[in-house]
Amino acid sequence: MAPFLLFAVSLTILQLGNALPLMKELSECDNPADIVFLLDCSTSMYPAQFKQQLAFVNNFTEGMDIDNGTIRIAVVTFSTTVQTEFNLNAYKTKAEMQKAISDILYLGGRTHTWLALDHIRQEIFTTDNGGRIGVPKIVIMITDGGSNEKKKTIEAAKILHKDPLRVFTIGIGPSVDTDELKAIASKPTNIFQIDKFDALKALTSEIIKNVCIKVCGVHPSDIIFLLDESTSIYDDDFGIQLSFLISFIRDSVIGINATQIGVVTFSSNVIYRIKLNQFSKSKDLENAVLSINRNHGDTNTGDALKLIREEGFTKANGGRDGVPHILIVITDGQAQSPEKTARESAAIHKTDIAIFTIGIGPAVKPSELRMIAGADDKVFRTASYSTLKTIEKTLFTKVCRVEVIKND
Ligand SMILES: *[C@@H]1O[C@H](CO)[C@@H](O)[C@H](O)[C@H]1NC(C)=O
Ligand SMILES: *[C@@H]1O[C@H](CO)[C@@H](O)[C@H](O)[C@H]1NC(C)=O
Ligand SMILES: *[C@@H]1O[C@H](CO)[C@@H](O)[C@H](O)[C@H]1NC(C)=O
Repeated sequence: MAPFLLFAVSLTILQLGNALPLMKELSECDNPADIVFLLDCSTSMYPAQFKQQLAFVNNFTEGMDIDNGTIRIAVVTFSTTVQTEFNLNAYKTKAEMQKAISDILYLGGRTHTWLALDHIRQEIFTTDNGGRIGVPKIVIMITDGGSNEKKKTIEAAKILHKDPLRVFTIGIGPSVDTDELKAIASKPTNIFQIDKFDALKALTSEIIKNVCIKVCGVHPSDIIFLLDESTSIYDDDFGIQLSFLISFIRDSVIGINATQIGVVTFSSNVIYRIKLNQFSKSKDLENAVLSINRNHGDTNTGDALKLIREEGFTKANGGRDGVPHILIVITDGQAQSPEKTARESAAIHKTDIAIFTIGIGPAVKPSELRMIAGADDKVFRTASYSTLKTIEKTLFTKVCRVEVIKND
């Protein structure tokens, strides 16, 4: 396991060394984002604790480019009722915004979380209220307790997730309802739990880091995942490939003007499972991914590359002109036919397709991963399926930076 870990570490250092902007990402968001803070102002907390939430939001805005409009922020408070304190397009300067945040009043009341979630879905990201098309939409909810009607809250959360939002939850203190936090967050790693309001401060950089990861979709791209379903792979491990893909989808803005994702699987046969333009809603895409019924067989990598070169990004299959065409290959073994794989790798490199390879476990052949990707910095390796998720952020950063490739 050690060599792979070392590889991962040196890759990170290399990147930080080469690209200073990458470090900047840790304290501010470089790319546009529409962010709404949803703040609990129910009676269970003291006014001073509410003020700590406001300080947290203010501190969050500190490193952000508000004045040039890269980042737009809205604040909504909720207790028995829901109140938009200000919309995404309310303030043009950070100074005005920070003053408005400090002036938000503490109301008190019950915890009607479901009303707040409905309000976010219906009001906050509309164009009239400052929501921008093609810009990632992010919700950060802070609460110190469970809602008064759990069933309604979980139902409202389900409906909310039909929209391509990235939702983070911050639960404070012992009275939060973990089931609700889970239902509301877009994925488990978006849940933060702390034991008291004082700990919010320490969470700021962690939240910023997670909220600001590069999001695919600001610049449209067409991405095909090529998943290995050969016999060497246990069902559970194939399931981990699918979870990895779902996590990727949840961090992307999916849509016909944003990121489109397709899925091809390969073993003895190559199957184009999900076409690029088949689903325009993230939830539908996720469901389709989850219902993939795997095959078994050989590792026919060459045929898979051939199919993607010939059919992957055609108009009929949803490929768009003028956007990056990206292939992400996940495999845990070696190709059955090295000659064919070499031939097909060479052929696909003559097209506009940018290729990343992810090799899982010790049975992969590094030189083959490199040959398929065409460059060292497009190869990822991970020691096992269980560590696959650790490469998501780096992969994301690279994939979402791919520009349109022109082969003259
Ligand atoms: C806003 O844009 C101007 C001009 O592009 C730039 O000089 C300035 O640094 C930007 N301000 C922020 C806060 O990013
Ligand atoms: C906000 O930042 C100020 C100044 O750095 C700090 O004193 C305060 O504790 C921070 N509060 C929160 C809740 O992050
Ligand atoms: C996609 O972009 C086109 C052209 O800008 C626009 O007319 C269309 O409404 C957009 N569609 C969606 C779903 O955003």
